[in-house]
Amino acid sequence: MPFTPFDLSGLRLPNRLAMAPMTRSRSYVDGIPSSLTALYYAQRASAGLIITEGVQPSHAGKGYMDTPGLHTDEQVAGWREVTDAVHAAGGRIFAQLMHAGRIGHPDNTGHLPLAPSAVRPAAQIFTPNGMQDVPVPVELSTGEVEATVRDFADAARRAVEAGFDGVELHGANGYLIHQFLSQNANLRDDRFGGSVEGRIRFAVETARAVAEAIGASRTGIRISPATGVQDLVEEDAHEVYPALVSALAELDLAYLHLLAGPSDELNARIRELWPNALIVNDPAAAHPSEAVGRWLPRGADLVAVGKYFLANPDLPLRLRLGAPLNEPDLSTAFGGDHRGYTDYPALALHPAGEPA
Ligand SMILES: Cc1cc2nc3c(=O)[nH]c(=O)nc-3n(C[C@H](O)[C@H](O)[C@H](O)COP(=O)(O)O)c2cc1C
Repeated sequence: MPFTPFDLSGLRLPNRLAMAPMTRSRSYVDGIPSSLTALYYAQRASAGLIITEGVQPSHAGKGYMDTPGLHTDEQVAGWREVTDAVHAAGGRIFAQLMHAGRIGHPDNTGHLPLAPSAVRPAAQIFTPNGMQDVPVPVELSTGEVEATVRDFADAARRAVEAGFDGVELHGANGYLIHQFLSQNANLRDDRFGGSVEGRIRFAVETARAVAEAIGASRTGIRISPATGVQDLVEEDAHEVYPALVSALAELDLAYLHLLAGPSDELNARIRELWPNALIVNDPAAAHPSEAVGRWLPRGADLVAVGKYFLANPDLPLRLRLGAPLNEPDLSTAFGGDHRGYTDYPALALHPAGEPA
């Protein structure tokens, strides 16, 4: 079953394994991905779908050190090299658009983080001066929230110009879109806050603007309901996420990417409400085969794998053969050079295709 093809709104995927988005912090010059980044993704082109690391849609959306962007011509040119390399290797690639919101530090970005409300998360962030507390963010005005929606749409257009097959909006893991959904990071009293309808508005308007800019069939969104990540409180997740997923369902997006949360009931409810393709990433799975075995029978169309795709450029082949996996070394996850990036070995195969 994981090795059967899938039609993702017209994009033919050869298998059901997606590479989950993973920040690697190796864009050292002006947020431009390097040739090494092109090699890293091209090595993983046998994924049914590659979803890139988080990419900031604007400089204001940057939070971490050395992350790439999609808001300058030079960044578009850098990504063009990446998408060309992936396509030449037979792959398909979506860019994950990520605005970090209140998770950031002036030492990384030159500006205070921006957020739905001026509420400091109990969180720390890596900076050139070591780990530091995340500062109190600046609250976005209503006009600035609307401008941020447009920034996402502009970045999506640039992604298509750069050769991406589509974009995924990062609505998970405690960053800007997720902050708007929560009860404690979003204390706004304008139309982007307050009621459940108000708190889902930023996510829905952003998804609509991006779908209008590049087509719904090229637009996906990632969510991580009620995981308590980055100090977010979501006690009403059982109301917020069904409302969000129902509103997104009307946009006919290519996919919803669910980071499976602790509530089986909510995970199942989301599958029921979502009419299009569902990608599931299960952080609790010890091995990719476990995630595949658990989620494809429960209605996932694709399973996204993070750390084991980082460490195994040929992960689909290894899973098909039942071959052993390289273990990820997370000490080289963020920053550094080719080590722990492009030097994880593929299987050495005999001509018959069996592991050597
Ligand atoms: C090094 C690293 C960087 C990550 N960066 C991102 C990111 O940029 N965007 C995102 O949505 N998730 C990010 N994640 C989360 C992964 O996509 C995934 O949800 C998580 O690793 C759990 O899946 P796994 O057990 O298959 O790795 C990152 C994870 C790792 C290990």
